[in-house]
Amino acid sequence: MPKDIIIDCDPGLDDAVALLLAAGDDRVNLLGVTTVGGNQSLEKVTYNARAVLGLAHADDVPVRAGCPRPLVREGRVAASIHGDSGLGDVELPAPVRPFDPGHAVPWIIDTIMAREPGSTTLVAIGPLTNIALAARLEPRIVDRVREVVLMGGAVHTGNSSPVAEFNIRTDPEAAHIVFNEAWPITMMGLDLTHQALCTREVQAGIDALGTDLARTVSKLIDGYRAAYRQDRAFPNPPIHDPCAVAYVIDPQVVQTCRCPVDVELQGALTLGMTVADLRGAEPGPDECHTQVGMQLDASMFWQMVTAAIEKLG
Ligand code: BDR
Ligand code: CA
Repeated sequence: MPKDIIIDCDPGLDDAVALLLAAGDDRVNLLGVTTVGGNQSLEKVTYNARAVLGLAHADDVPVRAGCPRPLVREGRVAASIHGDSGLGDVELPAPVRPFDPGHAVPWIIDTIMAREPGSTTLVAIGPLTNIALAARLEPRIVDRVREVVLMGGAVHTGNSSPVAEFNIRTDPEAAHIVFNEAWPITMMGLDLTHQALCTREVQAGIDALGTDLARTVSKLIDGYRAAYRQDRAFPNPPIHDPCAVAYVIDPQVVQTCRCPVDVELQGALTLGMTVADLRGAEPGPDECHTQVGMQLDASMFWQMVTAAIEKLG
């Protein structure tokens, strides 16, 4: 049985690859995509989400736009990495499905509440604003979701600041709400996603598929590679967001460590840091609802991504 997922995202070059992975792998069933202001404005990331679903021949997947900015703080975009459009300089065909005007947050709630308890996984790969609001507006969703799998945070080094990662640092109050609800959370932080490097060899494997879609993905990766090289001195770009989808598809791809995680809201230097308590023995799932991804099986991960792109044709 495929796992039912909702992806909350801010495409974003790596979000685009995450959407393609979800659309192209039968082990997940994409119930819908919700968007949040993050890498670019809400308007741009929503357009991008619809355009990427179009590329994946998944125009029937509902898309709902959510919150344009964080709960408390000013929004911050990541144009130096994702460009002015949010997808670098790649122009995708315009989406065909008409824009759906309903707000993402009630849609998330209604979708979870209408389904079997424990059947819906929330995959959050942008700032956590929509997910936090949904939990506050309808607290019963916390018991009803199967799991929240999120890309965000870092156990060790950050990217938005020395210790904080972009998605969490953008809306730390929302992240604080999400991490402090009792639902099972798997955090794919930078410790994990910096192992998802798109090397030249990996990219050559995608190119070898020889399809229009593979060429488009390769162009997206070219933009990401150039930005990461210039902005962060990475020779190969880390493709963060598909790690969360890959884990839902097959948990074997990521080795996790169970530990308490909380979000720093007070620190002058550490705002938005995900503080993981790795002291002592690993607690059991009944004692601790959070776990973090530590080790990625990179070859399995890239096989999944490449196979999904191939399947989408
Ligand atoms: C995260 O920030 C965004 O720029 C990416 O899309 C990813 O979700 C990585 O820190
Ligand atoms: Ca993202």
